[in-house]
Amino acid sequence: MQPSDPQAVLAPMTAAAVFMVATIDDGGEDAIRELLPDLAALCRTVGSRSPDGRLTLVTGIGAEAWDRLFDGPRPAHLHPFVELRGDVHHAPATPGDLLFHIRAERVDLCFELAMLITERLAGAATVVDEVHGFRYFDDRAMLAFVDGVENPTGRAAVDAVLVADDDPDFAGSSYVIVQKYLHDMDAWNAMAVEAQEVVIGRRKASNLELSDEEKAPGSHNVVTNITDDDGNELKILRENMPFGAPGRGEFGTYFIGYAADPAVTGRMIENMFVGDPRSGATDLILDVSTAVTGSLFAVPTATFLDDPPGPPGTPAAAPEPDPDDSLGIGKLAAD
Ligand code: HEM
Repeated sequence: MQPSDPQAVLAPMTAAAVFMVATIDDGGEDAIRELLPDLAALCRTVGSRSPDGRLTLVTGIGAEAWDRLFDGPRPAHLHPFVELRGDVHHAPATPGDLLFHIRAERVDLCFELAMLITERLAGAATVVDEVHGFRYFDDRAMLAFVDGVENPTGRAAVDAVLVADDDPDFAGSSYVIVQKYLHDMDAWNAMAVEAQEVVIGRRKASNLELSDEEKAPGSHNVVTNITDDDGNELKILRENMPFGAPGRGEFGTYFIGYAADPAVTGRMIENMFVGDPRSGATDLILDVSTAVTGSLFAVPTATFLDDPPGPPGTPAAAPEPDPDDSLGIGKLAAD
């Protein structure tokens, strides 16, 4: 089997991003299947107008949509986002068949590509959530702490994010979970900086990590720090962006986490919302943050999107004739 090219999941952080989630309308499946191979060309068309702008597009496909769109095997770990209800905090599951994660150094590049994709979705899918994110000072989240510090890099990032040969049909693909969070900035800004630092588990100005003694059981980087049975740290790749509209009092973080196995991200979210099994603590970040969306998508390879399978129920293609055995003599001999 030829190796497949991943989508631009591992592209570096940029100054701007658009996150678009859409649901496929009844009967829109064929149009969406036809759109998928055109997405790379749409991205090239816009990106080549400003090559320094580093425009990339990652397309995700939700579990229910996958079964409506394609025949054949499906990614082994693809399932809908699981809603979580703890004693205090709630992580809702919200509709999402398609995710478009558009990144660039310039807002206009993201906007143009979002517009071209939306034109192609018309009549086939409905955009149910659209967030325009921006880079806030030195890579800070809306809460003004540096975000993305502990992201894996290099080989570790590839291992954390891309599906390996254990799911051979989907090697090189990934999974992504998105959650839109709104922050109570009045409550956050009323806290002393030292208290905010305990919430995140790092110093605000210097970005230094707090010592274990300084952290609380509910510090964000305690609750989301998880290991496998052998004690190895489990990593995801986060490409969060702040967003908001001050005039509407809206201040948010768009969480987006890529992983080779969405169960890793799922465990982090469960620790945050239901409680860390090591301490019972929920994430202190949730005292000032409310999740208002939650969806999970498979991120197939670019190779898959260029030539997707037919619709469900497509008759199996006749086997390719063996070029070395055009007369079928070998087969006859074997019979
Ligand atoms: C309200 C939304 C969120 C905000 C504002 C936020 C912000 C931050 C910040 C400022 C850090 C510290 C710097 C860094 O290592 O990146 C951090 C770390 C981290 N966050 Fe979040 N985050 C949010 C949601 C989430 C969610 C939903 C997850 C998991 C599903 C998550 C997973 C992590 C992980 C794994 C780390 C690194 C922990 C470590 O040090 O080992 N975050 N986040």
